[in-house]
Amino acid sequence: MQNIKVFLNEDEMPRQWYNIAADFARPMPPPVGPDGKPLTPEMLAPVFPMNLIEQEMSTQRWIDIPDEVLQLLWQWRPSPLMRAYRLEQALKTPAKIYYKNEGYSPPGSHKPNTAIPQAYYNKKFGIKRLATETGAGQWGSALAMACKMIGLECTVYMVRISFDQKPFRKIMMQTWGAECLPSPSDRTATGRRILAEDPNTPGSLGIAISEAIEDTVHSKNTRYSLGSVLNHVCLHQTIIGLEAKKQMAKIGAYPDVVIGCAGGGSNFAGLAFPFVSDKMAGRNQLRFIAVEPAACPKMTRGKFVYDSGDVAMMTPLLPMYSLGHAFVPKPIHAGGLRYHGMAPLVSHLLREKLIEARAVQQLECYRAALLWAHTEGYIPAPETAHAIAVAIQEANRAKEEGKERTILLNWSGHGLMDLSGYDAYLQGKLRDYVLPEQDLQASLASIADLPKPPALV
Ligand SMILES: Cc1ncc(COP(=O)(O)O)c(C=O)c1O
Repeated sequence: MQNIKVFLNEDEMPRQWYNIAADFARPMPPPVGPDGKPLTPEMLAPVFPMNLIEQEMSTQRWIDIPDEVLQLLWQWRPSPLMRAYRLEQALKTPAKIYYKNEGYSPPGSHKPNTAIPQAYYNKKFGIKRLATETGAGQWGSALAMACKMIGLECTVYMVRISFDQKPFRKIMMQTWGAECLPSPSDRTATGRRILAEDPNTPGSLGIAISEAIEDTVHSKNTRYSLGSVLNHVCLHQTIIGLEAKKQMAKIGAYPDVVIGCAGGGSNFAGLAFPFVSDKMAGRNQLRFIAVEPAACPKMTRGKFVYDSGDVAMMTPLLPMYSLGHAFVPKPIHAGGLRYHGMAPLVSHLLREKLIEARAVQQLECYRAALLWAHTEGYIPAPETAHAIAVAIQEANRAKEEGKERTILLNWSGHGLMDLSGYDAYLQGKLRDYVLPEQDLQASLASIADLPKPPALV
């Protein structure tokens, strides 16, 4: 059999998550309050349960995965490591392309890898309901499922453009027992203010986060849950890379380049961090590419700043590459990549030049997604298509250079609930979009007065 598909046995499953913060040569700047002073755990307590705050602030290298969490993850994990052999043939490339198929989970993406532990730790802390935001709907549906399995209520504020484009995601959330509202909504003061200013706003993840946090701090026994960006989310996602390492070792392979799309950074982090640890230990040739849309280019054109995670500035200030928290990206179809900031852990690696970032256009992504569907069969999520587009760029480069290369990409989710984007592409209705420089500068100017992160020394 030329196709390669590698699983792991139960006794080979990772039993601990990898915390990359333990291995940084220079520590990340801490999150701060509006006064520029470092945040204390108590300041986060109205929003998150203390057991997750401890993980958020931890610098312990390995953190045990609770047995109850492993039992639930075992439902679909390990995700298969597969080789995109037919794609390689179509590209006539000497490169080998491997992918972790995270579309294998019940909601169809990597998101339940953190939804399950977040629901578990909240339940353990005595919380009854979680409130969250969702972009494309992958995160909202993952948390809806996790809450149902673990026994919590769930409220999801879904970015309006995705709510309209992806009605089936809403039905999935409802099927798993969650309440799903279009954001901005009239449920919160933030939502009402934004609707009054612009009744036709497509919404943004930054707005939806503000609504979910406002709901949380005004409700009893409720906490907020975030599907990306934060340290503990990236931590939970490292199960992807830890599995991938074992799976590649089983077939005697190791990547030259690791690729993931990046919205808030969690699936990229999850696959990459366990391999970045090898690079930090001396494997200097190993490359990492985080891929973002040209319409929302925080890593390639944004600034490393302290910025808020949401529009209403309800979150602490995080040290990250950002376009400014009030930035509302154009409604491209990769809803999960329409976020203004990048995870502090991923931002730190970029600043340290341990990883690269690349921006791609929407049409190149859909061309890549179609080639993938024609060769590998699976229809990728539009977010995932960004990683595929860059994997194809790297495979073509290997061909031009006549070099063998092993590419590993995170196939972060399937696109079966994203078919309206495919429909628009097939009908020739989609356009490329590059963020105009003056819009970028205007958005960055709006955060100019916030405290500044220290320079790297
Ligand atoms: C399939 C898929 N991939 C990637 C992302 C981007 O999120 P992150 O960068 O946190 O992995 C999303 C977010 O909704 C998604 O649904």
